[in-house]
Amino acid sequence: MSMKMAKRWAPFGTSIFTEMTQLAHAHEAVNLAQGFPDFPGPEDVLKQVAHETLHCHNQYAPAIGESSLRQAVSALVKEKTGIEYCPNEEVTITTGATEAIYSVVNAFVNPGDRVIVFEPCYDSYAQAIANAGGVLVPVRLHSPETPVGLASRGWGVDWNEFRASVAGGFKLMILNSPHNPTGKIFTRNELEIICEAVKGHDAVLMCDEVYEYLVYQNLDELASPVAMPGMRDFVVRISSSAKTFGFTGFKVGWVTASASLMRAVRLVHQGIVFCTNPATQRGLATMMSDISWVSSYLQSLPAQYAKKQDFLEESLKQAGFAVQRAQGSYFLMASYDSHVQGAAVRDTEFAKQLIRDARVAAIPPSVFYYGSEAPRRLNWLRFAFCKTDLTLQKASERLLEWARGGGPKV
Ligand SMILES: Cc1ncc(COP(=O)(O)O)c(C=O)c1O
Repeated sequence: MSMKMAKRWAPFGTSIFTEMTQLAHAHEAVNLAQGFPDFPGPEDVLKQVAHETLHCHNQYAPAIGESSLRQAVSALVKEKTGIEYCPNEEVTITTGATEAIYSVVNAFVNPGDRVIVFEPCYDSYAQAIANAGGVLVPVRLHSPETPVGLASRGWGVDWNEFRASVAGGFKLMILNSPHNPTGKIFTRNELEIICEAVKGHDAVLMCDEVYEYLVYQNLDELASPVAMPGMRDFVVRISSSAKTFGFTGFKVGWVTASASLMRAVRLVHQGIVFCTNPATQRGLATMMSDISWVSSYLQSLPAQYAKKQDFLEESLKQAGFAVQRAQGSYFLMASYDSHVQGAAVRDTEFAKQLIRDARVAAIPPSVFYYGSEAPRRLNWLRFAFCKTDLTLQKASERLLEWARGGGPKV
């Protein structure tokens, strides 16, 4: 590592994702590790983007985003949450949710400020916090077999731990629901506790809701904190075309927030990328503002992905894993506890063996801990099910063959 590199990047090193991907390639593994669909998103959107690429101005877009897309986002967010955001002052188009995360964190966090994050967590949060000089304060999501997990019937928060963490004060809290990597959807009761803490500390709540349309359970409980009483002025909400429309390559995301919070976000966004490519924005806007198209597309999503989750769950169970179904997102968590007779076996080791022996790649969740050490006993792997039936079928055959051959050699 270069001695010239700024110190704040030192903790990150080379990502385990890179290592796992290289190993997966070397063994020609079926890749259920990476969170992107291996099938194209809707052709209607592609056609509009192609049309705009040929015909729109193709120069810098307005920094805050193309007007047509800001209007479409405003309408979609209103439909989803009941909250109305002014397209001119309260909606900003970003270069994916990732840039939105960087902009929001850097808009509100001063060096030394505490940022509450539920761990395991999506990796961009830790990097954005480090860049701002903030302090990541983790609140653990306990795994389903622990006492807290059993009481929560899935990945759960120990609310005494939560209260102890927020008692030290905080400037920003990050909430990702539906949650990557656990698939958890925070319940209304949980959101109430979270919102009270945010209001009580006059902090900002960054809601990463990129999986908002990939919801399979607890539909009745699903609520965005922005719709909770008195929260509009505290919440900055993020979503993205990557997950909603299945185009992770577009890198078009959006932020909605009250005008006073948005002014800060826009300053950072302007300094990072200034703007995002106009043709993609306009193409998306055309389809997103076609009400009948967008509502029928969004309604079809959960059923399409639920079928994939069902299939992968069944295959993993037959191969000896215990599955914690995703309530939302396109990741499920599977425990290999029975394969190792309850011993604590490092998830990175198990994941590598699975690539070598079964030729199926999954992500070890210990890579998603940044503010604390991963639990010593974390016998879980994250599998992505945003894959074609053919890919899932191939993974299933390999897992079953591996299980029939005696499973892991640990
Ligand atoms: C929770 C979460 N937030 C944000 C992102 C990034 O979204 P985008 O591709 O729009 O930058 C991802 C991608 O995997 C994610 O899982």
